Amino acid sequence: MSFKDKIDLDNLPQHIAIIMDGNGRWARQKRKPRTFGHKHGVTSVREATETAAELGVKYLTLYAFSTENWKRPKFEIDALMHLLLQSIRTETTKLNKNNIRLNTIGDIESLPVAIRKSLKDAIEQTSGNTRMTLTLALSYSARWEIIQATKNIVREIQQTRLSAEEINESVFSSFLNTGSMPDPELLIRTSSDFRISNFLLWQIAYTELYFSPKFWPDFRKEDLYEAIFDFQQRERRFGKTGEQILKDGIND
Ligand code: IPE
Ligand code: IPE
Ligand code: MG
Repeated sequence: MSFKDKIDLDNLPQHIAIIMDGNGRWARQKRKPRTFGHKHGVTSVREATETAAELGVKYLTLYAFSTENWKRPKFEIDALMHLLLQSIRTETTKLNKNNIRLNTIGDIESLPVAIRKSLKDAIEQTSGNTRMTLTLALSYSARWEIIQATKNIVREIQQTRLSAEEINESVFSSFLNTGSMPDPELLIRTSSDFRISNFLLWQIAYTELYFSPKFWPDFRKEDLYEAIFDFQQRERRFGKTGEQILKDGIND
C-alpha cells in the first residue's frame, strides 16, 4: 500500500521546505562526476514539485544554492548555474500547465545576468498561477536574509515610516524574503545529514523536521508521501501540554 493512500488530505502541511542534499555522494557512488548528480537532481525537483501540487500543498520551497555554496570549485558552480538556466527555460511551460507560480528567495542580484533575466521572465509568465507557489532558494542563507531584513527595518525607522515599538514577530517576518508566505510546517533534508545549513532559521521555529536517508537524486514521489505521512503522525504542541492539545485541538 502506498503512503499516498494513508495521507489525510484534510491535514496537509500548507508549506513544505526541502534541503535537497546528496547529489555529489549519489554521483560518487556511481563513480561519476558530482555534476552528474546535479543533473539527476533536476528529475527529483520536477517530481517533488508535481507531487506536492497534485496533493494540494500550497507552498513548496527548495534550497537549491546557498550563500556558502559560492565557496565550491568554479567548475562545479558553473555547471550548477548552467543547469539552473537550462531548467528554468525548459520547465516554465510545465509550471504553467500545472498552474504553479515560480518565486525566488535569496541574493538574486549575485547570480549571473542570464539567470536573473530568465528567472524574471519565468516569474512573470507564471505570476497568475494559483495552485501552488514553488520557491527556489538561490544564493540564499538565513543569516543573510535576517541581516537584509534588519537593514530594511532600520531604513524604515530612519524615514519615520516605522517606530521601534511597532516591531513584533509579524512585522519582522514581513521584512523577510518569505514575507508573503506562511512558515513551513514540514522541513525535509535528504542524505542523512542532520543539520540546517543556514536555511530558513527564523521561519522554522516550530517546523517539524524530517530526515531522509535517500540521496536527493533518488528521492521519489513515494518518499515525499512517506515524509508527509510521518508528519501527520506527530503531535505539534507549540509549548502546550499534550493534554491541552487533545482537548483544544491544534488551532487554539
Ligand atoms: C546538493 O547536493 C546540491 C547543492 C548543494 C547545490 P551536494 O552537491 O551538496 O551533494 P553532497 O552533499 O556533496 O553529496
Ligand atoms: C545545503 O547543502 C545547501 C543546499 C542544499 C543548497 P550543502 O551540501 O551546501 O550543506 P553542508 O555544507 O553539507 O552543510
Ligand atoms: Mg551537500
